[in-house]
Amino acid sequence: MIMTKEKEMSVTPWEVSSGDGKIDYEKLVKDFGTTLLNEKIVKKLSKCHPLLRRGIYFSHRDFDKWLDAHEKGKKVSVITGRGPSEKMHLGHLVPFFVALSLQKEFGCEVFIPISDDEKFFVKDNLSYEKSLEYARDNILDLIALGFDEKKTFIFEDFVYTNIYTYAARIAKKITYSTAKAAFGLKPENNIGWSFYPAMQAAHILFPQFYRGKHLSVVPVGIDQDPFIRLTRDVAEMKEFNLDKPAALHAKFIPSLSGGAKMSSSDSLGNNLIYLSDSAKEVETKIKKYAFSGGRDTLEEHRKKGGNPDVDVSFQYLKMLFENDDSKLQKIHDDYKSGRLLSGELKMILIEKVNAFLKEHQKKREEAKKKIDKFVLKN
Ligand code: TRP
Repeated sequence: MIMTKEKEMSVTPWEVSSGDGKIDYEKLVKDFGTTLLNEKIVKKLSKCHPLLRRGIYFSHRDFDKWLDAHEKGKKVSVITGRGPSEKMHLGHLVPFFVALSLQKEFGCEVFIPISDDEKFFVKDNLSYEKSLEYARDNILDLIALGFDEKKTFIFEDFVYTNIYTYAARIAKKITYSTAKAAFGLKPENNIGWSFYPAMQAAHILFPQFYRGKHLSVVPVGIDQDPFIRLTRDVAEMKEFNLDKPAALHAKFIPSLSGGAKMSSSDSLGNNLIYLSDSAKEVETKIKKYAFSGGRDTLEEHRKKGGNPDVDVSFQYLKMLFENDDSKLQKIHDDYKSGRLLSGELKMILIEKVNAFLKEHQKKREEAKKKIDKFVLKN
C-alpha cells in the first residue's frame, strides 16, 4: 500500500484516492518498482490498440521479455480479470481492449478469470446471489468484445471451483503479515479479504497450470500491481517453478466529470457510461457531465482555444474511440486553436460512443448463444 501524507494519495487494489484528484504516476512507478514503457517497446505495438500506443499503458514488468519470447516462437499468453461488482461501464473495458488487441496481433491465448468471490468479500452490500448475477451479466459483455472462441478461456471463481486447488497451494505459501502489508488489510476486514490474494495469484498463474510453464502478461490498472508482485514471488518458489508473469500497467480512465478514476461509487451513474446505456442516455450524460476544456464564452474560445489535455471528451477519443492518429491530431489542433467548439467536440464523441454501443449491444445478444464455447467447467 502506498500512502503519503494523510488524504494525499492512496492506491491499493481496493481503494484509489488522492486529496487533489490527481494521481502521481511517476511516484507509483518509483514506489512499486516497475519500469516505464519505452519507445522501443511501443514501436513494436504500432498496430495495437491506442491504449498501448498513446501513453495510457505507461509502465510494465518484463513485457520486453514477453515480446522477445514471442519473437523467438515461444508460447506466450495474456491473462486479465474482472471483478463483477456491477454492470460494466466503459472504464472497465480498458484491460480487455488490450487483451483483445494482443490476441489479434500476436495470436495468443487469453485467460479471463471472473472474481465474483472477491467482490462478494469486499462489497458489504453485495449478496452472494447478486455477485453470481453480475458475473453472468459481465461475461456476456466480455464475449461480445470479439475474442477468439478457440483461444479464450473465461472462468468464474464460484463456478469453476477447480481454481480453489491452486489457490489453496498458494495460500499456504503466503503469510498473513505479507498479505496485510501488501494489501493494506484492516482488522475489521472479513477474512475473505486475506485469502483472496491467493485466489488472484492462482488466476495469474492459471495459464501455466493449464498449459505448462510459459510467459504470460497481465494488462491491469496500476492499482493491481500488489497482486502482480505477490504472484511473481510465488511463481518462483520451488513448489511451483513457474515463469514470473509480466505485466502492463494502465493509468486510470477519468470519469466524465474528470475525477481520478472512473468509478460508480462516487456518483449515481451519471458520471460514467454503461455498456447498456441508450443512445439518448449517452448523449445527455456527455452533454451534461463531460468535463470540458473549452472557454467560458464562444468569443473567448474562438480567440484563445480550448485545452484538450483536460477535456474529458478529447481524452476518451484519444484513449478509446479514435484509432486514426491523423484524425485525432486534427481534432486536437482544431480544438486548441478554437476552430472546434466544446459542443462540437462532444458531438464527435457522442457519435463514436453510440456507434460502438449499438454494435456492442447487438453482439451481447449473440453472445448468449456462445457462452459454452468460452466458459471453463470443472
Ligand atoms: N481484482 C481485479 C479487479 O477488481 C479483477 C481480477 C481478478 C484480475 N482476477 C484477476 C485482474 C487477474 C487481473 C488478473 O478489477
